[in-house]
Amino acid sequence: MRKAIIGGTGVYGIGEDIFTRIVETEYGNVEVDIVKIHGEEIVFLARHGKSHSNPPHLINYRANIKALERLGVKNIFSTVAVGSCNDKYAPGDIVVIDDFLDFTKVRPITFHEGGEHRVKHTDMSDPYCRNLRKEFCNIAGRLGIDIQGDSVYICTEGPRFETAAEIKMYKKLGGDVVGMTNVPEVVLAKELGMCYAAVGIITNWCTGMKSEAIALHDIQGALGKNKERITKAFLEIFKGELNQENCMCNKAIIEL
Ligand code: HPA
Repeated sequence: MRKAIIGGTGVYGIGEDIFTRIVETEYGNVEVDIVKIHGEEIVFLARHGKSHSNPPHLINYRANIKALERLGVKNIFSTVAVGSCNDKYAPGDIVVIDDFLDFTKVRPITFHEGGEHRVKHTDMSDPYCRNLRKEFCNIAGRLGIDIQGDSVYICTEGPRFETAAEIKMYKKLGGDVVGMTNVPEVVLAKELGMCYAAVGIITNWCTGMKSEAIALHDIQGALGKNKERITKAFLEIFKGELNQENCMCNKAIIEL
């Protein structure tokens, strides 16, 4: 199985011809769905768990990505629910994430822990796979999915939302959208030489951007409208052959 989808908040499954599998890793066990689509088995992983029970700071990111590697996955598309701190992107919009700023604090961030495995660093010139991002933009154009643009993702520790002063700072630093989960997920995929791309569904204005407070019904509305269209685009891309000839994702490890 070479292709996987990681579903973020609001995206808990794809397809109907499914069986569930538990994958064992040294970081813990992970439950995934294996979905048969166009004759090919695709892996689906719900980032927060099927019943949305793992908060962002407690998600076992290493187990999740290791489990996908164990299944042979090379290409991952994910969805992330995000708030917008850029006036250009409004709730309901879709953006492709092309870089991140990391403000996480307490989560394990790497597979590379030195010792007998030596010291390894990971090149972050292209944190999100160039090729998968391009594929998504092409397919989105054909399927009539409007992409508002590329975005810099601010990753906070959560689970609380941000203060208005924090959002002011993130805007000044060049952030466009804010979420709590894409780091270290994208980094861990790169550490294992996988191609990874994330599509952001804007669910709300960030704190202080507009006068209203963040509302749950807005978040659910934005997710409901977009999740089907985005996963359809992922599956359309997965119909084709994907290789690692047009990106550097499997050459990012720098060993000293
Ligand atoms: N902040 C952080 N994470 C989020 C937000 C937000 O405003 N919306 C959805 N995930």
